[in-house]
Amino acid sequence: MERYEEVCDQLLEKPTNWLITGVAGFIGSNLLETLLKLNQTVIGLDNLSTGHRKNLEEVKINVSEEQWSRFSFIEGDICSLETCRDAVRGVDYVLHQAALGSVPRSLSDPITTNSVNISGMLNMLTASKDENIKGFVFAASSSTYGDHKALPKVEENIGNPLSPYAVTKYVNELYADVFMKSYGFKSIGLRYFNVFGPRQDANGAYAAVIPKWTKAMISGANININGDGETSRDFCFIDNVVQANLLSAVSNLEKNEIFNVALGDRTTLNELYESIKNTLRNKGVLYDKKPVYLGFRPGDVRHSQADISKAHKLIGYNPKIRIYEGVELSMPWYLNQ
Ligand SMILES: NC(=O)c1ccc[n+]([C@@H]2O[C@H](COP(=O)([O-])OP(=O)(O)OC[C@H]3O[C@@H](n4cnc5c(N)ncnc54)[C@H](O)[C@@H]3O)[C@@H](O)[C@H]2O)c1
Repeated sequence: MERYEEVCDQLLEKPTNWLITGVAGFIGSNLLETLLKLNQTVIGLDNLSTGHRKNLEEVKINVSEEQWSRFSFIEGDICSLETCRDAVRGVDYVLHQAALGSVPRSLSDPITTNSVNISGMLNMLTASKDENIKGFVFAASSSTYGDHKALPKVEENIGNPLSPYAVTKYVNELYADVFMKSYGFKSIGLRYFNVFGPRQDANGAYAAVIPKWTKAMISGANININGDGETSRDFCFIDNVVQANLLSAVSNLEKNEIFNVALGDRTTLNELYESIKNTLRNKGVLYDKKPVYLGFRPGDVRHSQADISKAHKLIGYNPKIRIYEGVELSMPWYLNQ
């Protein structure tokens, strides 16, 4: 039996208490849905700055009434230590996802990104340490590899950050490390690589590429590709990210760890464009516009691909959904919006 199946069976047998910060967001709401389906008790904390109540409403529809009754929502800000303390009370595992994502957002407003991502993480670490949480997992980022050229990316070799966002995510890792060294508080950081799937926001200036292009193709709008389209990413379907979070939370490793969470594949923007277009065509949406190629975007890394062997070895991470299957699984949600 795979380690993830074992963990799910164990959780079903022995329900525990979880806190998800950023629960109304894309990744947070998918974590919530899985945990409730495993009959866990979940507290969710979110200030609804980039997340949406409708994500929570959707989870409510997808779980039973009894499972939904095990969820409580705190509308609040991780920038308040008191709010974080209230949220972690009586919790076994914390999945800290709340942050302001997006490299371009951080370039246009580095101050807000800094205060949410760094002070918020510090508050969550402090509150969780004082509450003796059993497992603390936080959303780190592949942006921490910065200008390091080697591929695939291996956890211990990072370069210099290329954006304020990348700085904040690296500082999160440094604080996690210092909390281990200074207070013996253990945590696991997951460096996500371009996550995608249902409930990823397609709206707003900072939408990620897959939802943005999908929405544009469905509505017949123009699509811009930054650079020559040969920029590549290791796109990771949401189910793989959920798996990595649950495996990490219950892992009880001896010391802090940082894991790449991705597929280990590399897909160019041009290939991604074709894949979304073809998948939508099979679902009756014809898009015949050519993409418009623009200049390279500041702060973007050129290529990204993860080595995922460390997470496989230490926690049994084994991503099941590859990119094209993930695109296929995501499209119905966008077509229903
Ligand atoms: N999506 C990706 O590809 C990706 C890649 C690398 C890292 N990450 C990290 O994963 C995490 C989740 O990202 P996501 O894609 O689900 O983004 P998202 O914007 O959908 O979710 C983030 C959630 O955090 C909440 N939030 C923001 N500031 C808050 C605050 N001050 N207090 C309380 N809640 C707050 C938002 O309202 C939102 O619901 C983030 O930490 C992000 O940096 C995501």
